[in-house]
Amino acid sequence: MRLTVIGCGYVGLVTGACLAAAGHEVYCTDIDEKRIDLLKAGKVPIYEEHLEEVLKRAAEEKKIFYTSNAGEAIRAGEVIFICVGTPPKESGEADLSAIDHVARQIAMEARTSKLVVEKSTVPALTGVQLQKALAAYSQNGELKFEVASNPEFLREGTAVGDFFHPDRIVVGVENEKCAATMREIYNPILGRKFHCPIHGGTCPSGSGELLITTINSAELIKHASNSFLALKISYANVISDLCERIGADVEEVTHAMGLDPRIGTQFLKAGLGFGGFCFPKDIQAFIHLSSAMGIEFDMLKAAERVNKQRIDRFFEKVHKALWVIKGKKVAVLGLAFKANTDDIRFAPALDVIRRLLAEGAEVHASDPEAISRTKPLLPEVKYHDDPYAAVKGVDAALVCTEWQVFRKFDWEKAGHTMARRLVIDGRNLYSPKKMQELGFDYYSFGRK
Ligand code: UGA
Repeated sequence: MRLTVIGCGYVGLVTGACLAAAGHEVYCTDIDEKRIDLLKAGKVPIYEEHLEEVLKRAAEEKKIFYTSNAGEAIRAGEVIFICVGTPPKESGEADLSAIDHVARQIAMEARTSKLVVEKSTVPALTGVQLQKALAAYSQNGELKFEVASNPEFLREGTAVGDFFHPDRIVVGVENEKCAATMREIYNPILGRKFHCPIHGGTCPSGSGELLITTINSAELIKHASNSFLALKISYANVISDLCERIGADVEEVTHAMGLDPRIGTQFLKAGLGFGGFCFPKDIQAFIHLSSAMGIEFDMLKAAERVNKQRIDRFFEKVHKALWVIKGKKVAVLGLAFKANTDDIRFAPALDVIRRLLAEGAEVHASDPEAISRTKPLLPEVKYHDDPYAAVKGVDAALVCTEWQVFRKFDWEKAGHTMARRLVIDGRNLYSPKKMQELGFDYYSFGRK
């Protein structure tokens, strides 16, 4: 099938690449011409595991095309996936101006009927507005614009794997014809008819289910899922604070809790809390939407508050350990909001650095992928590609992202070069006992 993807960010590029790998002909467009030029030159503007090879293969097989001419891309596809940003406004409400802009573009540029798919994360009832905008700006009464909601459940860092091996594919539609079109698009994914860059020919058995729902339900499923996961993390973080007061160990508590299949072990990791461009904004948008519907989602407000307080909790430890921050040399290990991504949006590490700088510390930072994105925002920081260089001569090392390279860090080696053996771990990566044996003053979340 011929598909158009509007917006070549994390979601759009992964969607376009994987649908091309599934055998569709995909036309990608973005208002950022530089991004399109990079893609045309075979370069990938973001770091996402396996994305480069999937895009390369798709280009070689002539399944993916890039253009900065939105009209051309819109006319090329039978189905159009909207993958543009929906950032938060000051009020927390989702800013849907990019969706609105694209809707008008589609209506004005299309010459044939289209199925328009919301892939971007949007609040419930956006589909209704999208449908209205498409109809209002349509240039030709003969053309029919139908809308579907197909929320993504892609985690940054494992997005390609998530796309090829989904738990579920949710499709919100208004009629059977649209459902059939969406099924046709996803059949190669469900039937494993693509080259998997992760497992080659040996993908694990079992593939996700395609669920057909109403548009409103599909939109709600996305926000309800992300908010629930955010809630789970904040819950674990409050348990962690309680563990510190009581003298219990959060890892022991959450591990045992998670063995109950009704709870599950994932997303119970205590630490600096959630960041990234999904949870913080989605939870705000969901609170806002609920309130507009006359439902005060106090539970989510509390989860958001708990998350914001994680930086304060972390600094309580920093102050306790370092006493005075002013004049101290401090290393920050990890800038990205989580491992395996170069994304620093709403990254807790950046808040940590801002606070360290405000309190007069000299900050040295290292991250495997996110340095070039952070530099323009925080030019005062000294950056090191080599994390061992970042901790040299420092009074304390603060761990902010759970990269594998930091998990495996040789603290014995690093300890010899530090001014003081002090580690404050925002991600609970190390054994307190081992760190103590290495002569470190070691602080983490919810553990002695
Ligand atoms: C999240 C969801 O997991 C995806 O399903 C969804 O599609 C995506 O948002 C989206 O809406 O686009 P993502 O933001 O990439 O994916 O990252 P997660 O792996 O969910 O982690 C979010 C944050 O929570 C990270 O900052 C991570 O460090 C933190 N986290 C995660 C914890 O603090 N504790 C945990 O136990 C798990």
